[in-house]
Amino acid sequence: MKENDKKATAKRAGRALAAAVLLLYGFAAGGAPAGEQAFRVNVDTRALPALGSALREENPYRGNATAVTVGAQVFEQACSRCHVLATSGGIGPDLRMLDVSCRKIADEARRAACLRDQDHYFLKTVRDGKTIVGVTHMPGWRDFMSQEAIWAIRSYIESHNR
Ligand code: HEC
Repeated sequence: MKENDKKATAKRAGRALAAAVLLLYGFAAGGAPAGEQAFRVNVDTRALPALGSALREENPYRGNATAVTVGAQVFEQACSRCHVLATSGGIGPDLRMLDVSCRKIADEARRAACLRDQDHYFLKTVRDGKTIVGVTHMPGWRDFMSQEAIWAIRSYIESHNR
């Protein structure tokens, strides 16, 4: 084989490999959503009190046992591949840490105000996701998740607070 033919063959093989990899990736993305994409979860939230379309500033389900159960299912499907409720193991932060400093505040009114801030941040972050200098670290769920589902996740995480 002439040197040029060899090069052409190698090029073709390279292209075929690249196509195969793309195809495989396509299958993976079709079967299960890629890390950067949000998607609709398969969880029934109708057992929760309906909240309407106006977004709440504060978790309306705090301490609601049904919300904890529903939230666990949503978390498992949508969040657990990046977040684990443990000090290590996820590519995203341990979400129990969000409230750590609030919970240390002795004054009840100030503690409640701190938790309200965190509620607001939680809802906003889950809806918008996290994109930093153009890189999506976490997808936004606003088109796929009701506020009922998001507050249920918040309640589930709170049930794991230490
Ligand atoms: C593809 C991975 C991925 C998925 C899926 C994901 N997250 Fe995240 N999330 C991250 C990463 C990474 C960060 C840290 C982003 C940063 O600040 O750079 C983060 C940050 C957050 C934060 C802010 C934490 C803080 O300390 O400021 C919240 C809240 C959050 N995620 C909630 C959720 C919830 C709830 C879900 C499920 C609906 C979810 N995430 C799904 C990767 C993910």
